[in-house]
Amino acid sequence: MNIIVTGGAGFIGSNFIFHMLKEHPDYRIVCLDKLTYAGNLSTLQPVMDNPNFRFVKLDICDREGVYKLFEEEHPDMVVNFAAESHVDRSIENPEIFLNTNIIGTATLMDACRKYGIKRYHQVSTDEVYGDLPLDRPDLFFTEETPIHTSSPYSSSKAGADLLVLAYHRTYGLPVTISRCSNNYGPYHFPEKLIPLMIINCLHDKPLPVYGEGLNVRDWLYVEDHCRAIDLIIHNGRVGEVYNVGGHNEMKNIDIVKLICKALDKPESLITHVTDRKGHDMRYAIDPTKIHNELGWLPETKFADGIKKTIQWYLDNESWWQPIISGEYQNYYEEMYGNR
Ligand SMILES: NC(=O)c1ccc[n+]([C@@H]2O[C@H](COP(=O)([O-])OP(=O)(O)OC[C@H]3O[C@@H](n4cnc5c(N)ncnc54)[C@H](O)[C@@H]3O)[C@@H](O)[C@H]2O)c1
Repeated sequence: MNIIVTGGAGFIGSNFIFHMLKEHPDYRIVCLDKLTYAGNLSTLQPVMDNPNFRFVKLDICDREGVYKLFEEEHPDMVVNFAAESHVDRSIENPEIFLNTNIIGTATLMDACRKYGIKRYHQVSTDEVYGDLPLDRPDLFFTEETPIHTSSPYSSSKAGADLLVLAYHRTYGLPVTISRCSNNYGPYHFPEKLIPLMIINCLHDKPLPVYGEGLNVRDWLYVEDHCRAIDLIIHNGRVGEVYNVGGHNEMKNIDIVKLICKALDKPESLITHVTDRKGHDMRYAIDPTKIHNELGWLPETKFADGIKKTIQWYLDNESWWQPIISGEYQNYYEEMYGNR
């Protein structure tokens, strides 16, 4: 099996590559990544010398480059993680989200149509369903919940999902989609809530919380998401959407307090800042379908996952420090510039 994993130098994509090379040592994994600010090649250092792994620096919107890669690699599957993924950035500059998340997805699927593929898998998000009210804890997103987006980010992801389903219906492309809740774990980019709070705590810096911090997210340990995708690409039904979530709802403010406590830092570091525009209140996934059809259940409890994550950031300052200083963006040039 030869799998192209796009966006594999990012948070979830890199964890997925590690998972696949460990669980399927006979598979070939080709990582295609543009190395935007969110991609960090040093993350993939542990697998760079694996003979079953190849890294290719490429934009998923580069049609010629993508077609050339398909001609070289004849992939059996494509798993598309590549995306602009930060809601705040999408509010500042929506255009790049439309390009990468929608045009890029179409470009990859056009290559799949042209060269043939056993499976195209789109990694999507629960944010395509919009949000749920805080006072209705009985409500959850199912795969039938209407698409109802709030941010340019979630709208671009929803646009991509609709295209993926349209390519299945119109061209018979063998697609699947997973819509996952918020992930946490190793290699999470320091601008996102959990790593930001851990790193600010370590530096005794203020912990900026949007509004009152009452927004609820359904947190899933990244390895559980990777296992879900592995199951879907092998056993999921073509043309289907699978929600992935762990029934682990937490208020942002409680997460921040928990991190303070774990690192023995005072809650007085918490500062409330102006809320994000259009901030979704609550996300909550109903994962019944993936459980019933594919037997998936999350394995890592939040209490254990957050401990492991905090410890990982304590042990891996050499990974996040260059990101904070901006040095990491020179890494590719240093590694590959003269080759
Ligand atoms: N992080 C979460 O909690 C979460 C939850 C559900 C779904 N998702 C989805 O999972 C996917 C991965 O998320 P993440 O948090 O790992 O993101 P990330 O921002 O950490 O990584 C994105 C990766 O994509 C690459 N990339 C961006 N534009 C590209 C382009 N045009 N061509 C090639 N590569 C490009 C970046 O260099 C980076 O390596 C995204 O599609 C996101 O929508 C994320």
